[in-house]
Amino acid sequence: MKNITILGATGTIGLNTLDVIQRHPQQFQVTALTANTDVDRLTELCQLWQPRYAVMADSQAAEQLHNRLKHSHPHIQILAGTEGLVQVASLPEVSIVMAAIVGSAGLLPTLAAAQSGKRVLLANKEALVMSGQLFMDAVTQHQAELLPIDSEHNAIFQCLPSCYERAGLATVGVNQIYLTASGGPFRNHDIEQLHEVTPDQACAHPKWKMGRKISVDSATMMNKGLEVIEACWLFATTPATIQVIIHPQSIIHSLVEYVDGSLLAQLSNPDMRTPIAHALAFPQRMEAGVKRLNLLEIAQLEFEAISLTRFPCLRLAYDAMSQGGTTTAILNAANEVAVQAFLDGQIRFTAIPQLIEKTLTHVTGRAATELQTILEDDQRARGFTAELVKSYGRDAGA
Ligand SMILES: NC(=O)c1ccc[n+]([C@@H]2O[C@H](COP(=O)([O-])OP(=O)(O)OC[C@H]3O[C@@H](n4cnc5c(N)ncnc54)[C@H](OP(=O)(O)O)[C@@H]3O)[C@@H](O)[C@H]2O)c1
Repeated sequence: MKNITILGATGTIGLNTLDVIQRHPQQFQVTALTANTDVDRLTELCQLWQPRYAVMADSQAAEQLHNRLKHSHPHIQILAGTEGLVQVASLPEVSIVMAAIVGSAGLLPTLAAAQSGKRVLLANKEALVMSGQLFMDAVTQHQAELLPIDSEHNAIFQCLPSCYERAGLATVGVNQIYLTASGGPFRNHDIEQLHEVTPDQACAHPKWKMGRKISVDSATMMNKGLEVIEACWLFATTPATIQVIIHPQSIIHSLVEYVDGSLLAQLSNPDMRTPIAHALAFPQRMEAGVKRLNLLEIAQLEFEAISLTRFPCLRLAYDAMSQGGTTTAILNAANEVAVQAFLDGQIRFTAIPQLIEKTLTHVTGRAATELQTILEDDQRARGFTAELVKSYGRDAGA
């Protein structure tokens, strides 16, 4: 029986993880569940799963959860804030941590899981985008095991030989990695129409059901940009090795090209339970409740080149990774503030890349060897983008 902590249990990835786990009650025990403010959902999950710990990042929400559970479930310890998240990510009795908090709030608990030598199932790509080298060093130093949950990275991982980590991609004959992208909801929109799109339109992804932040990131293609950065760290490679291509059906989740001309791909229906089950069971396999892929029904798989004019966020992410240091944390912070401002109706969709580019021009990056420096630059970027949001307003943006 393996004990698991699920950071971000109330989100799309968290709930999919619980769905997979409930199919294998003999193998996994839920030790801790966390959320930010969704007290109703975490109450339900606590009643169902009876974890030893439940954490609300928001302290008022933690008090509400405590009041709801104290008589019926006195054995569940309720914790609050980042300290609580870090504590349940590092519990000695826990061997697996699902890192599925959205955004930079996931950095400290995910890093704590790596520093405690856990098997870390990484959905929270923002943690790696912010702290790249520092995070990978923690994984090595504390002998943690890092398994990717993002469907693209999980696909790449499945297409690589097991010795790639020791040998490096070039030594095992990798020539190129292809990251596939569905193209999101605006793949065929006129570029002029993008000025008018609403948050609900941006969140209506054609293939995947996801939280609102990552849905907007998919619509701007910043999600793919963050994934390029994530892939560079996970597979110890450079942006030049990674090419993004549009594949609207979202059946091939990524491909690895070898020097002998072989191209290996991982295919499955677009359902996050496949990569979650893969990482939970690795190196074995287990049933995930996912509909089997019927190749005759699919019949056709299409690919398109990507337009950096339509998706400038992807260019910004490639540039940030090439610059290195805290520049990727600055990119991530500016993106989080701009996306929230768009979701709150303060700025237009087309203003998102503009605010990020302005922030990257004004807030310069530094070497990212210390956590403190990364957190400071994250805050500097947030402050700068927030000021831009005020001055930009709803009517600005090309
Ligand atoms: N969804 C996908 O298909 C998918 C695929 C690949 C990678 N990912 C990555 O997985 C992560 C989660 O995505 P998602 O779609 O599951 O997001 P989501 O549905 O929005 O869920 C986010 C989770 O994080 C919690 N949370 C939000 N802000 C927090 C904070 N400040 N402190 C602590 N916890 C906080 C939320 O709690 P509340 O419910 O209380 O707000 C919720 O449990 C993201 O990094 C995303 O990029 C997602």
